Amino acid sequence: MAPIELMVYPDECDAYGHLNQASFLSLFERARWEMLARGPGLDVFTREGAWPALRRTLIDYRASALPGDILVFAQALTHRGRTSFTMRQSATRKADGALVASAEFVFVCIDREGRPVEVPQAIDRNVSDSGFRAPADRISVNGVGLAVELEGDGPAVLFLHGFPLDRTMWRAPAESLAGWRRIAPDLRGMGKSDAPDLGYSMSTYAGDLLALLDRLEVERVVLVGLSMGGYIAFEMLRQARHRIRGLVLMDTRAEADSEEGRRGREAMIASVRERGTVAVADAMLPKLLAPGTPARDPGLVANLRRIVSDTPVSGVVGALTAMRDRPDSTPLLATLAGLPTLVVGGEDDAIIPPAATRDLAHAIPGAELSIVPGAGHVPPLEQPGITSGVIREFLQSLG
Ligand code: MLT
Repeated sequence: MAPIELMVYPDECDAYGHLNQASFLSLFERARWEMLARGPGLDVFTREGAWPALRRTLIDYRASALPGDILVFAQALTHRGRTSFTMRQSATRKADGALVASAEFVFVCIDREGRPVEVPQAIDRNVSDSGFRAPADRISVNGVGLAVELEGDGPAVLFLHGFPLDRTMWRAPAESLAGWRRIAPDLRGMGKSDAPDLGYSMSTYAGDLLALLDRLEVERVVLVGLSMGGYIAFEMLRQARHRIRGLVLMDTRAEADSEEGRRGREAMIASVRERGTVAVADAMLPKLLAPGTPARDPGLVANLRRIVSDTPVSGVVGALTAMRDRPDSTPLLATLAGLPTLVVGGEDDAIIPPAATRDLAHAIPGAELSIVPGAGHVPPLEQPGITSGVIREFLQSLG
């Protein structure tokens, strides 16, 4: 579907000449109708006997828009329940690509008498294909649709992204691994995967991914997990060690949250509920990258901000809850003897300092260690060449 573009008119602006906050609601609504007009038709709800009633709205206003500006709208279905669904929408300025606002809408479908009814199929088909990031396969497991990038044939490698990012962080390593079957999902609640309101835990994420491997008929796999992806890798090891043939742990830790860390998660959950995902972007972005990265790759900061801000609130709150409650994985480390393991860390990681990465490597019998120069918490994005090389060499050593 071609992008939906709407112009800002003077009557939608406030006394300062900026697009008024209330007008955003109406533009987001117009974009949704435009999407239906181009897809199943404006009468789709009448035909289906199911009308979406808005139950909740959350908007982040990010930049101003002025009369004459063209706004480009993207929309994605982030959760589909039986009678309710959640949509993310974003509006960017066509002239410079700046994110002007992003929003999350929760709808319940009702009939003429106001009773809840099933979400029409036409919603799935049309909303999931309306311009949010690169297309990916969509695979349903454990009642949620996961967006998954699949590439290549050969022994399988499963990439697990960090919080609150998405599968696209693995593009460079994945592209460099010819001869491997690369599987890069968005975790539930992040990227383009469904984001249910409740039900997040390390055990649920691991269960989703093991079910995904079943669906793809992959028996054994190498796990590559960054930060929260590493926490999930530990849980997959607890649940199905026999299916893991190698392990790459990147910028992650085995310990559970300390009391202080748990209080920090609570505070973050409260501010995300109050301010939206911009709160987590503001808190995390300054710590995510090595000091030299923004100057070397100015587009990366804006891209990360967009990915974090586009993450549904339910997914961010769910992940924070799951991380807060995750078990201590340190007892697992000594038991990993015999499992080929590579531990990787960014030289300038402010979240997991290199000393902690070294300690993790030393606690796993036989683990290799690699510290990536000039990288902070996300080496695959900051030093894609070096990081891809390190992963490739390790995978080659597995034979
Ligand atoms: C991540 O990158 O996944 C997070 O930093 C993990 C965490 O907050 O513990």
